[in-house]
Amino acid sequence: MKIAIINGPNLNLLGIREPGIYGRQTFEDFLKGLREKYPAVQIDYFQSNVEGELVNELQRVGFSYDGILLNAAAYTHTSVAIGDAVSAIKTPVIEIHISNISAREEYRLRSFVGAKSVGSITGLGLKGYELGLLYFL
Ligand code: DQA
Repeated sequence: MKIAIINGPNLNLLGIREPGIYGRQTFEDFLKGLREKYPAVQIDYFQSNVEGELVNELQRVGFSYDGILLNAAAYTHTSVAIGDAVSAIKTPVIEIHISNISAREEYRLRSFVGAKSVGSITGLGLKGYELGLLYFL
């Protein structure tokens, strides 16, 4: 089974960035543990702060992988292009958010990703990525 995790802008700063909201663990550290726990699953990871690079990566993995865990971060709330890419590809996408976007600023309530995804996991911290992986398993 091949799963792609795609993270959007500023998620490269996890562990440093607003730890009260996003926690103190780096994504690399979390990913190492996830790969150790699920050795039979190929888990590929891509992060970019650039919108078009996220679209390119969705297109790259979107016809051959078994599932995509997408945290488009702030682009979730602004990017028609990323929403269109999720619609265009064949691989099912789960929208992930570390924080509970329903309990934050009003502009975070809008998602261009959620309506195109098979489901959304929000507010459960980094655990949300593992729960998404378990859905695909
Ligand atoms: C986020 C929530 C977004 O609203 C925010 O812009 C992020 C991270 C999350 O994982 O909680 O950068 O996607």
